[in-house]
Amino acid sequence: MTDVKKIAVIAGDGIGPEVVAEAEKVLKKAEELYGYSFETEHALFGGIAIDEKGTPLPEETLAICKSADAVLLGAVGGPKWDNNSKELRPETGLLGIRKALGLFSNLRPAVVFDCLKEASTLKPEVLEGTDLMVVRELTGGIYFGEKLRRQGEHGEEAVDTCVYNVTEIERITRQAFEIAQKRRKKLASVDKANVLETSRLWRETVNRIAPDYPDVELEHVLVDNCAMQLLRRPSSFDVIVTENMFGDILSDEAAMLTGSIGMLASASMGDSTDAGSFGLYEPVHGSAPDIAGQGLANPIATILSVALMFRLTFNYAEAADAIEAAVAKVLDEGHRTADIAVDKSKALSTSQMGDLIVAAMQKA
Ligand code: NAI
Ligand code: MG
Repeated sequence: MTDVKKIAVIAGDGIGPEVVAEAEKVLKKAEELYGYSFETEHALFGGIAIDEKGTPLPEETLAICKSADAVLLGAVGGPKWDNNSKELRPETGLLGIRKALGLFSNLRPAVVFDCLKEASTLKPEVLEGTDLMVVRELTGGIYFGEKLRRQGEHGEEAVDTCVYNVTEIERITRQAFEIAQKRRKKLASVDKANVLETSRLWRETVNRIAPDYPDVELEHVLVDNCAMQLLRRPSSFDVIVTENMFGDILSDEAAMLTGSIGMLASASMGDSTDAGSFGLYEPVHGSAPDIAGQGLANPIATILSVALMFRLTFNYAEAADAIEAAVAKVLDEGHRTADIAVDKSKALSTSQMGDLIVAAMQKA
């Protein structure tokens, strides 16, 4: 009997439904090619859930996600809900779902496709061979620490607190080592250990567990230096692991190496990235209200998110390779959506791009 994989599909708002529809075509093609069996269940989330259920994250949506093997998410948000109170904002649902599902690690691959090097602001020879993964801690650090305002001697003061415990550091850095083992076996741990106490604990923890991964070449990089090296020698990085705020900034910097936000996939994971682990997969971009409903969105970020799902949750490496090869082939042939097109008049629609990628998928 085929092993049926359950996928919760959350299309969301704006271009979310448009790009998710293309990703679902890819799922269907993978079933045909490899004999997989996916059971998809659609759930309301974000702005549309606020409109229909009065909350961005309905209980039943959470239940559907919890009973699934993986979640595929489009994007949420839009001007319609921007002035709502905090509980009735789509973005609140986003924080809520990550927390409720225990997803503490955000993986963002940045791959530079050869034929898109012209779309980047960096020189092609600098980008050559760039294929890196930022592993960002997602639920700790200064974004979640105690905050306060007070009157000080020199007027009003504001305080943000950065807290990390050893458990939080160990679980994310172990995950990064494991991911590196499945890639080119290089790990850069990024911190500010020359100044910050949380970074010292981070570095001590990484050094303590490093002997468990003797096959991984480890380097410690200070965050300011890492910001420079990402622009100077991006291809020398394999896996970068770092705390929440550094990861937020560095992953956006790494994203810009690739040209368009419409190309970037992400995974949010919990306790494990071993085959069979639960994960939430989504494009890095938002709901793009400026182009929503016009068939202009680039579906590649969402399609590559399916490849990540195959690799990390289902251990379907062969199919993940096929998706990535199909994307590369279609781009090599010169096909472009508007965001990556030089000649916008020849740009493909969202579904035309999806169809071409599906058609290009083949068994190795
Ligand atoms: P955005 O990523 O939606 O759009 C930024 C720019 O990139 C826009 O010009 C948009 O047209 C373009 N763009 C984005 N994705 C594209 C794609 N696939 N193909 C072609 N062009 C694309 O970010 P923005 O405008 O800051 O936010 C819009 C809404 O999305 C807001 O409500 C925001 O809160 C929400 N948002 C949601 C996220 C999520 O669901 N994970 C993440 C980021 C923003
Ligand atoms: Mg950011």
